[in-house]
Amino acid sequence: MTKLPLPSVVAAVIVIVLSSVISSTNALGSGATLAVTHSGAVCGVAASLPFQRIVCHRRSQNVDVYGNVSFSSISGGGTSLCGLRTGGYALLCWDLSLENSTAVTDDKRVYFDATVALENLAVGYDHTCATVVGNGTVKCWRYNKNAFRFPSGSDRFASISSGSGFSCGILKDNSRAVRCWGSGTLPTKIENDFGNMSMASIFAGNSHVCGVNVTGFLVCKGTNDSGQLNAPVGSEAFEYSQLSLGANHSCAIRASNGTVVCWGGEGRFSVNETNGVSFELIVSSLDFTCGLTTVNFSVVCWGPGSRIMGRQRSGTSSKHADRAEEFTFPELAMATKNFSLENKLGAGSFGVVYRGKLADGREVAIKRSEMGQMTRKYQEKESAFESELAFLSRLHHKHLVKLVGFCEEKEERLLVYEYMKNGALYDHLHDKNNVEKQSSVLNSWKIRIKIALDAARGIEYLHNYAVPPIIHRDIKSSNILLDANWTAKVSDFGLSLMGPESGRDFRPTKAAGTVGYIDPEYYGLNVLTAKSDVYGLGVVLLELLTGKRAIFKNGEDGGMPISVVDFAVPAIMAGELAKVLDQRAGLPELNEGEAVELVAYTAMHCVNLEGKERPTMIDIVANLERALSLCDDSHGSISSGIISIASE
Ligand SMILES: *[C@@H]1O[C@H](CO)[C@@H](O)[C@H](O)[C@H]1NC(C)=O
Ligand SMILES: *[C@@H]1O[C@H](CO)[C@@H](O)[C@H](O)[C@H]1NC(C)=O
Ligand SMILES: *[C@@H]1O[C@H](CO)[C@@H](O)[C@H](O)[C@H]1NC(C)=O
Ligand SMILES: *[C@@H]1O[C@H](CO)[C@@H](O)[C@H](O)[C@H]1NC(C)=O
Ligand SMILES: *[C@@H]1O[C@H](CO)[C@@H](O)[C@H](O)[C@H]1NC(C)=O
Ligand SMILES: *[C@@H]1O[C@H](CO)[C@@H](O)[C@H](O)[C@H]1NC(C)=O
Ligand SMILES: *[C@@H]1O[C@H](CO)[C@@H](O)[C@H](O)[C@H]1NC(C)=O
Ligand SMILES: *[C@@H]1O[C@H](CO)[C@@H](O)[C@H](O)[C@H]1NC(C)=O
Ligand SMILES: *[C@@H]1O[C@H](CO)[C@@H](O)[C@H](O)[C@H]1NC(C)=O
Ligand SMILES: *[C@@H]1O[C@H](CO)[C@@H](O)[C@H](O)[C@H]1NC(C)=O
Ligand SMILES: *[C@@H]1O[C@H](CO)[C@@H](O)[C@H](O)[C@H]1NC(C)=O
Ligand SMILES: *[C@@H]1O[C@H](CO)[C@@H](O)[C@H](O)[C@H]1NC(C)=O
Repeated sequence: MTKLPLPSVVAAVIVIVLSSVISSTNALGSGATLAVTHSGAVCGVAASLPFQRIVCHRRSQNVDVYGNVSFSSISGGGTSLCGLRTGGYALLCWDLSLENSTAVTDDKRVYFDATVALENLAVGYDHTCATVVGNGTVKCWRYNKNAFRFPSGSDRFASISSGSGFSCGILKDNSRAVRCWGSGTLPTKIENDFGNMSMASIFAGNSHVCGVNVTGFLVCKGTNDSGQLNAPVGSEAFEYSQLSLGANHSCAIRASNGTVVCWGGEGRFSVNETNGVSFELIVSSLDFTCGLTTVNFSVVCWGPGSRIMGRQRSGTSSKHADRAEEFTFPELAMATKNFSLENKLGAGSFGVVYRGKLADGREVAIKRSEMGQMTRKYQEKESAFESELAFLSRLHHKHLVKLVGFCEEKEERLLVYEYMKNGALYDHLHDKNNVEKQSSVLNSWKIRIKIALDAARGIEYLHNYAVPPIIHRDIKSSNILLDANWTAKVSDFGLSLMGPESGRDFRPTKAAGTVGYIDPEYYGLNVLTAKSDVYGLGVVLLELLTGKRAIFKNGEDGGMPISVVDFAVPAIMAGELAKVLDQRAGLPELNEGEAVELVAYTAMHCVNLEGKERPTMIDIVANLERALSLCDDSHGSISSGIISIASE
C-alpha cells in the first residue's frame, strides 16, 4: 500500500515586495503582472519606477531574473516564465527549473520584432502563445512541432489562454465564440463543448477551461476527473471576475469583495487561510494557487504544491540577496595558498588572476589588483566602490563571468569570480599545446559557432539590458572564457572601477582595447561606442573561422605581421572562404557550410571600417542563432571534430 500524503492545509505567505502592481486580469496561461511556475517560483512585475522589472521568489529566496528593464506582462507555465517587454516588441523566457539558484541566467529571447508588437501572452505547460497587436492573429513558440495544429489563419482573437498542449481563445468578432488549438483531441473536444456560447473571458487549466460568458455566468469545459468543472452556480450575473485554473482545480475571485472560491482538486484548495482575504488577482500552477492580497500586496499561496515554496522570514535575508559577498583578505590568501605562483592563472586588466578554493569548497578565480594601482579616490569613496561592485554583481547572465564577491582591506582590492575550468578561447585557438591536440573540442564548427553565439549574447546583454549600458571596450578571444561545459562567457567587463580612472562616461582609459582588436574608428574619433565592441567581436569571429591570431606572421608574406581582418575579409568577399578556414575544424559538412558562411558574412560586416555600417549585437545574435540552428539541421553529419581532415 502506498501512503497518500496528508491532505494538509498548506498556505505560505511570501513576502515579495511588489511595492505596487499594475492590476490586470490573468490566470495560469494568461499574461498578467503575477505569475507562478510549477517549480515553485512566484514572480511579479514590480511597478516601481523607473522600471517595471520582474521580481521572483522561490524557496524563501529572491531570484534575480533580469536587469532593470520594463515588462508589461508575465506568464508562467511548467518550469518556464515568459515576459513581454513593455511595448510588446520582445518576448523573453526563462527556465526556472534549477533549484536553489538565486539568479536566473538562461534567458531566451523567443521573439523580437520592432514592427510587430504582441499582446495576450499565454504561457502553457509546454508551449507559449500570444496575439499580434492590431489583427489578433496567434503566434506560438516552443510547441511540439510534430503534433501542434494552429487555429485557422483567419481567426482573430480578443484574448487567449494556454493549458497543457492546447490553447483556447475568444474570437474578436461579435460571436465571441471559443476556438481551441494545439495537439491531440482535447482542443477539438473543448471547442465543441463550448459550442457557440459567447464568452466574456477565458482561462485555461491543464486540461480544462473556464470562463465567464457574456451574460455573466461561470462556464467550464474539458476534463472533470476531480470535479474541476463543478463551478458554483452564481446567484447573480458577473458575481465572479477573474479565474485561475490548475491541473485539477479551479479558483475564482468574487467581484464584490475580492474573496476567493475554489472547486475541484479534491477540495484541497478550499482552505481557511483564504477566508475573508481579499485578492487583487490570482494565478495557478499545477497544484497550487497564489494570490496578490489587496491589503498589502503580499503574495499568499495555497494548495498541496504550495509546500515547496517555503516561508519567508522577516525579509532581512533578502535585502542583500543580490549583493556581492565580502571576503576578508586572509580568507582569499588561504584560498590561493598565499597567492602562490602555482595558483597563478594569468594577468588580466589591472591585476593578477589566481585560482582559488574557498573554505566552503567553491572554486573561484581571484583577481588581485596590483599594489598602488588603486587610487586614493576609492579609499575616500568606499561607498562608490561598493555600489559599483553591487551593480556589477547584479549583472547576472549566463554568458557573463559572474562576480562572486570582493575584498577591500587597506591597500588591497580583490575581485572574486566564478572559476572557468576550460580557460580562455585564445588558448584553445592559438596556444601551441592545444593546436597540436587533434582531440580538441574546438575542432568542430558547431562548437565554434556555439561559442561565438554565447559570447555575442553576453555582449548583447551588456549593451541592451544592463542599466546603465556597458561598453566592454576590450572584446578579444582572451576575454572569452569557457566553463566546464564549454559554455562561453565574457569576462573583464565593467571594470572601470578597478582602473586608475573611474567614470562611467565611457571615456577610454589606458585599457581601451588590445592591438588587433581596436575599432579603427577609435583612432580618429577617440570615442568608444557599442560598435567598438562589435568590431572586437568581429575579429574574434574571424579567429574562430581561420584559427589565426588577431595579428599573426604570415608565412606567405615573408613573415610580415598581418591582421586577421586583412587576411580573411578579401577572401570572404571574393567568395573564397574555404581558402582561409581553419583546417583543424575540418571541412564543414552539409548545412554546416552554410552556417560557417553566415558567420563569415557576419564577421565581415562587424569589422567594417565605419561603425554605423556595422550590425548591432541584436542582429549578430540573430545571425549566429540561425547559423547554429543550421548546424543542427545537418542530419547524419559526423562530428567533424573527431574525424579531422588532414592538412595537405
Ligand atoms: C534597478 O532599479 C532600482 C530602482 O531604481 C535600483 O534600486 C537598482 O539598483 C537597479 N538595479 C540595477 C541592476 O541597476
Ligand atoms: C535546495 O535547498 C533545500 C533546502 O535548503 C535542500 O533541501 C535541497 O536539497 C536543495 N536542492 C538542491 C538541488 O541543491
Ligand atoms: C497580422 O499582422 C501580422 C503582422 O503585421 C501579419 O504578419 C499577418 O499576416 C497579419 N494577419 C492577418 C490575418 O492579417
Ligand atoms: C447556437 O447554436 C444553436 C444550435 O446548435 C442555435 O439554436 C442557437 O441559436 C445558436 N446561438 C447563437 C447565439 O448563435
Ligand atoms: C451563460 O451561462 C449560463 C449558465 O450556464 C446560461 O444560463 C446562459 O444561457 C449562458 N449565456 C449564454 C449567452 O450562453
Ligand atoms: C464534474 O464532476 C462532478 C463530480 O466530481 C459532478 O458532480 C459534476 O456534475 C461534473 N460536472 C460536469 C460539467 O460534468
Ligand atoms: C477550517 O475550516 C474548517 C471548516 O471548513 C473548520 O472545521 C476548521 O476548524 C477550520 N480550521 C481552523 C484552524 O480555523
Ligand atoms: C464576500 O462576498 C460573499 C458573497 O458575495 C460573501 O458570502 C462573503 O461573506 C463576503 N466576504 C467578505 C469577507 O465580505
Ligand atoms: C490530477 O488528477 C489526476 C487524475 O486524478 C492525477 O493523475 C494527477 O496526478 C492530478 N494532478 C495533480 C497535479 O494533482
Ligand atoms: C500582509 O497582510 C497579511 C494579512 O493581513 C499579513 O499576514 C502579512 O504579514 C502582511 N505582509 C506584509 C509584508 O506586511
Ligand atoms: C601564508 O602566509 C602566512 C604568513 O605570511 C603563514 O602564516 C601561512 O602559513 C601561509 N600559508 C600558506 C598556506 O602558505
Ligand atoms: C554542466 O552541465 C551540467 C548538466 O547540464 C550541469 O549539471 C552543470 O552544473 C554544468 N556545469 C557548469 C560548470 O555549468
